Amino acid sequence: MLDFIVEVEKKGYLVLDEANLLTLAKCEKFTIIRDVIISDADSADTELVASRCEFPFHTDGTFLTIPPKYVVIIVKEAQSGGQISLSNIDSTLKRTIIGMRAKYRSNTSVFESPIYNESLCMFRYRRDFMSPTNGMLDSEFQDMLDDIESKLTNRQILVGKIDPGYGIILNNHNFVHKRSEFAGRRVIRRIWLDINS
Ligand SMILES: [Fe+2]
Repeated sequence: MLDFIVEVEKKGYLVLDEANLLTLAKCEKFTIIRDVIISDADSADTELVASRCEFPFHTDGTFLTIPPKYVVIIVKEAQSGGQISLSNIDSTLKRTIIGMRAKYRSNTSVFESPIYNESLCMFRYRRDFMSPTNGMLDSEFQDMLDDIESKLTNRQILVGKIDPGYGIILNNHNFVHKRSEFAGRRVIRRIWLDINS
């Protein structure tokens, strides 16, 4: 298990089978802060319903004070589509976004935050929850996000379609992830992890 932790810390993500991902999520290094079943349809075991459309690049939990450091996505059922891609917030991208800020919407409030928090080394990005800070035109803001997304897309890593019984763990502070559109039944288990200090 230690090898997996070292590898995910070094590489930023790791594709593993469900059993290893669950052992990893439950190890003493992490605290599980949320664990939900997400599917394409409202059913008894579903806690969140996912749209079949492409889910563009984002980080998870942008509405939280500190979003989860790691995200685990375990594919339980999948028919067609639903390919996963990642992109890394490397030093070149960090340099271009340092100082940029946005307002972020949660269920209960709107708060302002840097898009990249230098002291926490944390990227916070979910376009549909973001709006310009005071004094910035919406058109300027959208151009800024277009530019960030084109840089992310230029160097995206295609993980591809993950088969049922497998999944991925990724660093949610330094990687964005996206999922292509899918058809048919798709069920995932998503676990958010914080690191124990
Ligand atoms: Fe996500």
